[in-house]
Amino acid sequence: MTEEIPSGIDPADRPLTRLMSSALLMHAVAALVELGVVEELADGPRSAADVARNVHASERGLTVVLRAGAAAGMVAEPLPGRFALTAAGRRLRVDEPGSRRDLVRMYTDGAFLPAWSRLAPAVRAGVSAIEVHTGRPLFTYLEERPDAAALFNTAMDGSIAVEPVLRNIDLAGTERVVDVGGGEGALLAAVLSRHPEAEGLLFDLPHVVATAAPLLRERGVADRCTVVGGSFFDRVPPGADVYLVARVMQNWPDEEAVRILRTLREAMHHSSRLLIIGHLPGPDGASPFIQAMSLYMFVLYGAPLRTVAEYDDLFARAGLTLHRVHRVDDAESTLEVRRA
Ligand SMILES: C[S@@+](CC[C@H](N)C(=O)[O-])C[C@H]1O[C@@H](n2cnc3c(N)ncnc32)[C@H](O)[C@@H]1O
Repeated sequence: MTEEIPSGIDPADRPLTRLMSSALLMHAVAALVELGVVEELADGPRSAADVARNVHASERGLTVVLRAGAAAGMVAEPLPGRFALTAAGRRLRVDEPGSRRDLVRMYTDGAFLPAWSRLAPAVRAGVSAIEVHTGRPLFTYLEERPDAAALFNTAMDGSIAVEPVLRNIDLAGTERVVDVGGGEGALLAAVLSRHPEAEGLLFDLPHVVATAAPLLRERGVADRCTVVGGSFFDRVPPGADVYLVARVMQNWPDEEAVRILRTLREAMHHSSRLLIIGHLPGPDGASPFIQAMSLYMFVLYGAPLRTVAEYDDLFARAGLTLHRVHRVDDAESTLEVRRA
């Protein structure tokens, strides 16, 4: 019988110890992606020595990182020194549908990570940490940094929970869907694939829609999807049955959010539906994940997540009215909105 060894950690320190461990292990996961180790392990267990040779890394360093990756649940070590991807680790593979690879890269990339060290001054100033760090709001910064923009856009492509959104919204009979601030069109492509009779229009900033064609072609919807560059502060293409606005309203403080809603209202006809998709804190408070998302929104955009009641105020100011809420815990919820 083995004797249970008591933990040396004071119970009062456990929450902080857990928190610091997760923050550190995240970097090991990012290194496994960046070094190409995730792809090396795609076909089954391999020894650290073998993988180290292929990715031009030191065996000692790689073993430390792989064991940290095991502590994070991304790899397993079935035999000493041999490693395999877990189900969670396979989600980091480049060819995995809905791959989380670029999301992990974005969390830890040098274009975004240093902003976190500016959180306290951002809180003092009431602006995003990105703005404190780079001197500009995120979307201006991305226009000037094509490398960071490419990473942001692919991270968005792979990070929206498409299935719960499609399950919760009834698009039967919809002929024309416009995705406003739709990025490279991952959500719109999923909607068009599910509804072969519908036509789509992808609307986003010109430099963003300029890189959308490969994704739309690869998902087989390019022939039913028009791509238009522009700003939703100026105008939105008119007359669609459904407007998708996914993870956009949560990027803007109230004044800008109302301006976007007003241009959307101008574009809508009397029976158009506006579907606002994003994380939604619950009426009884938010889960730790939603709190973390709200914090992330503040770091990137200077605007935390809104509750339904807070959205309702904005809709009233823009001449819109909330019809239905499709709540999904810890993933994207949908607010169904019409002209008042
Ligand atoms: C957080 S991303 C969400 C992208 C996509 N809807 C999704 O859920 O994956 C916000 C999007 O808003 C776009 N955006 C920012 N400012 C914009 C503007 N003035 N006009 C149109 N789109 C804009 C960004 O380029 C970006 O693609």
